[in-house]
Amino acid sequence: MSSNFRQIYEQSINRPEDFWQEISEDIFWFKKPKQILKKDTPPFYKWFADGVTNTCYNALDIHIDQGRGDKTALIYDSPITGNKKKFTYKELKDKVSKFAGALKNQDIKKGDRVIIYMPMIPEAVIAMLACGRIGAIHSVVFGGFASNELASRIDDSKAKLLVTASCGFEPGRTVEYKPLVDEALKLASHKPEKIILYQRSGHEVKLNAPNEISWEESMVKAQDEDCVEMNANDFAYILYTSGTTGIPKGIVRDIGGHIVALKWTMKNIYNIDTNDIWWSASDIGWIVGHSYIVYAPLFKGCTTVLFEGKPVGTPDAGAFWKIISDYKVKSLFTAPTAFRAIKKEDPEGKFFSKYDLSAFESLFLAGERADPDTIKWAENLLKVPVIDHWWQTETSWAISSNCTGIEMQKTKYGSACKAVPGYDVKVLKSDSSIAKPNEMGDIVVKLPLPPGTFPTLWKADERYKKTYMTNYNGYYQTYDAGHIDDDGYIWIMSRTDDIINVAGHRLSTGAIEEVLSEHQSVAECAVLGIADKLKGQLPIGLVVLKAGVTKDNETISKECIKMVRDKIGPVAAFKVAIVIKRLPKTRSGKILRGTIRKIADKEEYKMPATIDDPAILKEIEEDLIKNNILK
Ligand code: COA
Ligand code: AMP
Repeated sequence: MSSNFRQIYEQSINRPEDFWQEISEDIFWFKKPKQILKKDTPPFYKWFADGVTNTCYNALDIHIDQGRGDKTALIYDSPITGNKKKFTYKELKDKVSKFAGALKNQDIKKGDRVIIYMPMIPEAVIAMLACGRIGAIHSVVFGGFASNELASRIDDSKAKLLVTASCGFEPGRTVEYKPLVDEALKLASHKPEKIILYQRSGHEVKLNAPNEISWEESMVKAQDEDCVEMNANDFAYILYTSGTTGIPKGIVRDIGGHIVALKWTMKNIYNIDTNDIWWSASDIGWIVGHSYIVYAPLFKGCTTVLFEGKPVGTPDAGAFWKIISDYKVKSLFTAPTAFRAIKKEDPEGKFFSKYDLSAFESLFLAGERADPDTIKWAENLLKVPVIDHWWQTETSWAISSNCTGIEMQKTKYGSACKAVPGYDVKVLKSDSSIAKPNEMGDIVVKLPLPPGTFPTLWKADERYKKTYMTNYNGYYQTYDAGHIDDDGYIWIMSRTDDIINVAGHRLSTGAIEEVLSEHQSVAECAVLGIADKLKGQLPIGLVVLKAGVTKDNETISKECIKMVRDKIGPVAAFKVAIVIKRLPKTRSGKILRGTIRKIADKEEYKMPATIDDPAILKEIEEDLIKNNILK
């Protein structure tokens, strides 16, 4: 295969089947695929349709077969608890095979769904891999989501089993999982048959119900389980993500393409080899955590760091530098917000100067647009390339990036670099014509998407088709808008739906509105993401009360905030709900959210021609000033 980026990219677009067939030779197959791409039922494409493989085999066993069993697979470091632990590939495989046996004892079989609702501890990774070993489909739910969100995922996936832990730790707060799980089980109409709970030392909780069992107990009679043979198009996992409505979308990942694509990315995008130490500072509850804490580095056979901490406050703004220095990390992948948090606390990099970062070679950022200020600050401090790259839960790996393992491209601040091999990215105008260079439009990817992306939504083929594949025939609609410049650099400027990005976490303003609308006194509401220096965006709610409500505004505002925290979770970071008299609307009744957001962000805006009463905008401005949103 050629080593020049342009040639490799063109080959991937012009001859995708040859391109991915060659790459697929690099993974372990029980049966090699003969059919590389099945394309008879667009938009449902199937990569490696007749291949047979196993996710866990490719993450663990293969490296032992190849004589690298004593190499460190996973480093766990928890500045919150002070715990640290290393696992070789052999040790991790032993733990995973045994937990796979424990799952089997609970009657978990191929295709059954297992919810994993856990903090950032090795047992969470072990549970994920154990599912893969026996062909169960895991669905990891982020610990910052509340019971309601957990319940909706239990119901949609019809999970047979739920794995959890006694608690997680946030700076200054212990997150008790058991009450959250109990509440979710009350809310869910589907009931998992069993709960396995990992007791964290010093924080054990009582297990009462007959279907609850501790992790330790589940292991007592467990036998080591071998990897089962899985069809390449069987599903490895479901990961729910915010959609354009409050109902989360179950993004599914098929097994073969996932292994092939993710293993390839480690060298080609991130320039990571088997002997390197890699760290993705995210959470296993997000796609970045799935792909780059767990799967891609283990498929590659390098060492991955699992960090139970924060960029600041655990204990200080030197936490990231300490990990990089202690373990000789070569590259780090995190969200820009983490660097903004460090920059805010330690603008001069005083903590940084205490550590030896000589092994460190590059920093990758994604999850939200990396603002040029933060990139330049990080470059100045670290003296290594800082790379903004763009991707989504839907794709599981980068759509655009600087592919540092192929050929380094120059940085353009504010751009997420060029389309990665496999992705034919275009910008389309509303009439479906292709935009000229530098012209704004909807960013789409020509079908078929490359391996490792989402072949459908969990039990929702129609929703998949309608949401993503219908507006622009023959293309996947990313719901990001932006432009491509003359050099092929992609500039992601905004979302075109109701999704906002809060500290790199994807949230639906529609989902928050649904919660606010349930408040007895609220007649209507609008939630918008306003610019925030630390978290990128923050949600604020504007609520209009029903006639005759006598409760005071402050109480209503507090109740609204509590409802969002209870129903969606602390991760929504919803701290502002303002009671206003009326919402600006078009004459046809559509709330002018975009205009309100512009007012809040002090951006210029045009008076919408269809507004029913322009005076409302002045009122909103005054309300925002009164509430310290507009200064
Ligand atoms: N379990 C339970 N609660 C959680 C949680 C988890 N796994 N993760 C976050 N939360 C809670 C936080 O404790 C906080 O609660 P609070 O309102 O009681 O303070 C709330 O959710 C909001 O969290 P967050 O948005 O993360 O804000 P923060 O102020 O706690 O931290 C940063 C800010 C920048 C330090 C943090 O967002 C961060 O480390 N970001 C790194 C980027 C990242 O991981 N992105 C993920 C995708 S790549
Ligand atoms: P998630 O599915 O949570 O990974 O969120 C995906 C969304 O985050 C994308 O559709 C973008 O809106 C945004 N995003 C991710 N990476 C970037 C980036 N590098 N630049 C701009 N936006 C990004």
